[in-house]
Amino acid sequence: MTMMRIDIVSAVPDLLESPLNTSIVKRAQTKGKVEIYVHNLRDYAYDKHRQIDDKPFGGGPGMLLKPEPFFHVIEKLQSEREYDHVIFMTPRGKILNQAECNRFSLAKNILILAGHYKGIDERVIEKFVTDEVSIGNYVLSGGELPALVLVDAIVRLIPGVLNDSESALQDSFMDGEKIEAPYYTRPAEYRGMKAPEVLLSGHDKKIREWKEQQSEILTKKWKKINRLE
Ligand code: ADE
Repeated sequence: MTMMRIDIVSAVPDLLESPLNTSIVKRAQTKGKVEIYVHNLRDYAYDKHRQIDDKPFGGGPGMLLKPEPFFHVIEKLQSEREYDHVIFMTPRGKILNQAECNRFSLAKNILILAGHYKGIDERVIEKFVTDEVSIGNYVLSGGELPALVLVDAIVRLIPGVLNDSESALQDSFMDGEKIEAPYYTRPAEYRGMKAPEVLLSGHDKKIREWKEQQSEILTKKWKKINRLE
């Protein structure tokens, strides 16, 4: 298996530092399962003042990220390798779900663009972007946190990243849109609250049935609160 490569372009690369170098995403890199590179947009602004933003034509509030630095960095990266996906994080994109994460996790090279301020010049999207991805119907200050969400969701699916006990196959949503049964650990009773008897029984079949039934209850509840039926 060749290693996956993820490149992220950002005007605020500091925002990405700690999450990419902590926990499972860090371990995936240490294990050689993925290489992640962060590119500072400002390094690709070649004018005297290294300007990356400007006022939108036609007026309106806020600043836009200028096209040139994006063109420079994307063209450089694309001259070095082919990208399966050039993803722009935006609230107008397709809302991320597990099926999309599974699809992205099969890629060899992924390039993620994070906007900031009001957005980016539309010509960057028109020229390079293959997938516009949203992480939900709400607006964040930039695409950095969404990019981190996407990277985490992808990286944990790469074979060999999680160990057996962490296995992604067990997760809620991996088996269609199903929510997992609740979990309990020691102590069996805490502040008068008891872990379900059946989980302590050692009776495998009963435990399986209980988990199945709890999963159904939580899935129904989840569909209702999310207005999916
Ligand atoms: N940028 C700002 N808000 C966003 C969202 N909800 N999803 C993806 N990118 C974004």
